[in-house]
Amino acid sequence: MARIALVTGGSRGIGAAISKALQEQGAQVAATYAGNDERAKQFTDETGIATYKWNVADYDACKDGVARVESDLGPVDILVNNAGITRDAPFHKMTPQHWHEVVDTNLTGVFNMTHNVWGGMRERKFGRIVTISSINGQKGQFAQANYAATKAGDIGFSKALAQEGARANITVNVVAPGYINTDMMSTIPEKVMDQIVGAIPVGRLGEADEIARCVAFLTRDDAGFITGSTLSANGGQYLA
Ligand code: CAA
Repeated sequence: MARIALVTGGSRGIGAAISKALQEQGAQVAATYAGNDERAKQFTDETGIATYKWNVADYDACKDGVARVESDLGPVDILVNNAGITRDAPFHKMTPQHWHEVVDTNLTGVFNMTHNVWGGMRERKFGRIVTISSINGQKGQFAQANYAATKAGDIGFSKALAQEGARANITVNVVAPGYINTDMMSTIPEKVMDQIVGAIPVGRLGEADEIARCVAFLTRDDAGFITGSTLSANGGQYLA
């Protein structure tokens, strides 16, 4: 039987590459998205991967959404918490709204999704959970006090949960990408972008597929001895 995988923010960018990599690995994949109906429809048409719209920041929406996916496809074996946003600003300009939007999506969203698949994984004694953190949760980043806090929080969350899941054959891991060639980079001013690429030892941005392969590896049935780990894929920019 194919494993059932659920990828949040799974119809664009890194999430789309993850959805496709898991499908290639044999999983039946569902991808969530927050807003872009047109892009999601196009993604489903191209890949056959089912897309579902809900906001990961909303606990009840996650509960209902997971129930819908499970009734359509079957119990979720693999959860990839990929959905994430930035609201960059130097701290003196950061508003409570900037803070809450990022915390609600990047950290509370991970709680909301994981909490709604956890009971089933415990009962069935199998689960693979991978959360996408960031190099900036490991090293900090100017103008990202909110984002860095959430991405560091995702690592602590996963380390704690790895200990709880271990006896039930649920692994909980993190992939920490560096700067990857996606839409998220479009908010960064060009001058800043040149500095960023200059600081990456391999001399280029990463590609979404390079992150997707890390995730696919950690979700395999035979990756059960790897839990609580953080796999950094950042071109050598930060050696955690
Ligand atoms: N380190 C130190 N100083 C910096 C800096 C840095 N990395 N970046 C900008 N500054 C300084 C500028 O030199 C400038 O200084 P002066 O005023 O002395 O000239 C000042 O900060 C800019 O301050 P402003 O008040 O004008 O800033 P702003 O309100 O216009 O905000 C910004 C600009 C939001 C910081 C913008 O420069 C930016 O987006 N920077 C990139 C931040 C970044 O790297 N985000 C990561 C996004 S990618 C991601 O998040 C994915 C992932 O996981 C890797």
